[in-house]
Amino acid sequence: MADEPLVLGIETSCDETGVGIVRGHTLLADAVASSVDEHARFGGVVPEVASRAHLEAMVPTIQRALKDAGVAASDLDGIAVTAGPGLAGALLVGVSAAKAYAYALGKPLYGVNHLASHICVDQLEHGALPEPTMALLVSGGHSSLLLAPDITSDVRPLGSTIDDAAGEAFDKIARVLHLGFPGGPVIDRYAREGDPDAIRFPRGLTGPRDPVYDFSFSGLKTAVARWIEAKRAAGEDVPVADVSASFQEAVVDVLTRKAVRACKDHGVDHLMIGGGVAANSRLRALAQHRCEAAGITLRVPRPKLCTDNGAMVAALGAEMVARNRPSSDWGLSADSSLPVTETHVPGEGHHGHGHDHVHELSSQNLYP
Ligand code: KG4
Ligand code: ZN
Repeated sequence: MADEPLVLGIETSCDETGVGIVRGHTLLADAVASSVDEHARFGGVVPEVASRAHLEAMVPTIQRALKDAGVAASDLDGIAVTAGPGLAGALLVGVSAAKAYAYALGKPLYGVNHLASHICVDQLEHGALPEPTMALLVSGGHSSLLLAPDITSDVRPLGSTIDDAAGEAFDKIARVLHLGFPGGPVIDRYAREGDPDAIRFPRGLTGPRDPVYDFSFSGLKTAVARWIEAKRAAGEDVPVADVSASFQEAVVDVLTRKAVRACKDHGVDHLMIGGGVAANSRLRALAQHRCEAAGITLRVPRPKLCTDNGAMVAALGAEMVARNRPSSDWGLSADSSLPVTETHVPGEGHHGHGHDHVHELSSQNLYP
């Protein structure tokens, strides 16, 4: 439908420069330039390196997206950009670019939440989100169960990780196994050759008195690292495939168990899974199995839309336009710790939540 909003979305919260273009729920372009190779030797994303890479890739990636979509910039109904959470310096490059384009083109600007975007992207795959949507959000920086009555304005956290994020655990175990960075995709690959029952690793926060919707992966990470160290100390080979499969099973077992429980407790018959870890093949398979058994319809976007991209930002921006949400003003800033409840950053004094952005930027840890 030609009257659906045509929106360009810019994502620069981490190491991916993503520019996507959507018309309503239709994906027209998804251009991504990644600086991941530049960070690999550091074993994690170096913020300064990521910011520079965004600056270099920004205009070419926007041009590529416009070309792929076959639309003119002047046809856009709005420019959406990730305002947070993420690396402060990296976010600032995207916000500056979005402002420049929006201002030059005379289009409204929408500063949106990265986490809500990870959920909203599924509209490009499976159509309008049910309301409310139950979402399991699992990425390198976040692991949460969210109940979203309205993805543009009302996202409620039910629980989240009390220590490491799920993706962070994958990255750390991959580092212990010397498998490189990021760890998720390579552990996913090794795990296919391994036995998930070979080693019984702990399932965090699954005891009868533990909080039902919170996660913990730090104990698991330590248990896996100790197991590997003990093997090495004994001069034995580390069975990488079995360790990968058993570790991965412990993560996805807890994630899917708690997500299904949340759906049942809240009477929600759909589960959406988003974020980089949602690309994990075993998580997708086990979630499908457990949802089916519980009569829940599973919605997971294709892997390329699970990891960071601009299309997800455009998808949330288009929903903002469709629902007449207020656009951001020219004073829009980046907020590295934007809470998940702030789905977007509207103008006129509504933006921010009392943080000193300049201080946040200057106190940013340089190395992970
Ligand atoms: O959403 P994302 O691209 O960036 C953040 O917002 O953090 O997520 C990145 C995380 C990394 O920790 C990466 O290891 C993990 O997602 N990841 C995976 C897979 N692909 C990416 N984890 C498990 N299995 C995968 N196939
Ligand atoms: Zn992300």
